[in-house]
Amino acid sequence: MWWYFALIALLSYVIIVVTFRLLFPEKHLDWSLIDLSQTNFPDLFRWGVATAAHQIEGNNYNNWSEFENNTGIEKSGDACNHWKLWKTDFDLLEELGVSNYRFSIEWSRIQPEQDSWDEEAVAVYSEMIDDLIKRGIKPVVTLHHFTHPVWFEELGGFYQKENIPLWVDYCERLFGVLGDRVKDWCTVNEPEVVSIMGYQMKMFPPGQRSVLKTIRVMRNMIDAHSQVYHRLKFKSSEIRVGLAKNITLFDPLYRWNLLHWITSIVLDHIWNGAIISALRTGRMFGRKIPGAKSSVDFIGLNYYTHVLTSPFLPQTTEIDLPKRSHEVMTEFGYPMYAEGLERSVKKLAKLKVPIEITENGVADSEDTLRPEHLQRHLWMVSELLKQGYDIRSYFHWSLFDNFEWAEGYKLRFGLYHVNYETQERTLRESGKLYQSIIKKS
Ligand code: GAL
Repeated sequence: MWWYFALIALLSYVIIVVTFRLLFPEKHLDWSLIDLSQTNFPDLFRWGVATAAHQIEGNNYNNWSEFENNTGIEKSGDACNHWKLWKTDFDLLEELGVSNYRFSIEWSRIQPEQDSWDEEAVAVYSEMIDDLIKRGIKPVVTLHHFTHPVWFEELGGFYQKENIPLWVDYCERLFGVLGDRVKDWCTVNEPEVVSIMGYQMKMFPPGQRSVLKTIRVMRNMIDAHSQVYHRLKFKSSEIRVGLAKNITLFDPLYRWNLLHWITSIVLDHIWNGAIISALRTGRMFGRKIPGAKSSVDFIGLNYYTHVLTSPFLPQTTEIDLPKRSHEVMTEFGYPMYAEGLERSVKKLAKLKVPIEITENGVADSEDTLRPEHLQRHLWMVSELLKQGYDIRSYFHWSLFDNFEWAEGYKLRFGLYHVNYETQERTLRESGKLYQSIIKKS
């Protein structure tokens, strides 16, 4: 009789695995057969590059600089000294020919103390915005890109729901100064990264490990995002407000292994599904977040890779993740997988709002992979446009090499190389390629 049950169990296993394989195909293209120059972009397509304050400005004092001091990871220090060099850095934007620039405003510069408001810092950002507009470059402003003031962190940051109004009030006040000129606002950059890397992986501040805290922070960040969305939209109906969602795809390491499938499905829900669900239905992890439903005029997509999963999950990003045999490994230790851009766009299309590709790029210090990486991803965007997906823009990460968070300065993502000794910026071949693609389109 036992063999009868064994047979039933085996058959059920096979049926489940085959169903998963059919439901969740992992697309791979033979890139050698594709002519990457065959692309088409509409006239109104917006070309851009993206940066974030803490990664480029230099000498910020915030939760991240405290984390750098306390953990002994590489310090951001002067970074690209962009706070001083922003004007000549904006020449680089013009040189590239981008029509849009996504950057973040450093809250800790404006409110270094809870009851302070640094008018001079606000004036610098205001001047940057005027300067961009004068150059014909549209500013896209991110309000929270991983960093916040130390006093906010000491109050518990986004872990404490009662702290949310502090950030919402700051955003509203800042909007009062810049809202006449900035029309595209990105509330939060990658809420899933802030919560998972900070509260589960210990790679970001505050360096903790707790699933429950992770979920709570993720929920509070979406709550905070929604509140800012409604406040800003109340002030002006002309603006567009959204958030930047990192889509990391999770695929089972072995597609015949049910445990690998279960891990990938669970991780996909925590990393991607939970936030998409909050923005679609107003519910996340079974709980309602008032105001979250439909709280985006666009959805930003930050796309980098897919992760091959098994129950033995790495607890750090400092190792090479597994890759398919034909895939190329990037210097970050994850594979180049441009096909995933298509799958990511399809996930976000469920929100039924325009998609802005707010980040995509590769760590490649010698610039040997970046040209191919850029072309594959842009070819994919062009295909998606052909299929009718409403993608409005592509922002390359990043304008120049910068402080790559827990990985420090060794990872170089720039279209421009930065010599950190002299602060000299040099256009890479991939930068020239991007320049020519923009010109051609
Ligand atoms: C994103 C992040 C950026 C940048 C990029 C490259 O997740 O938003 O700040 O670090 O990754 O790894």
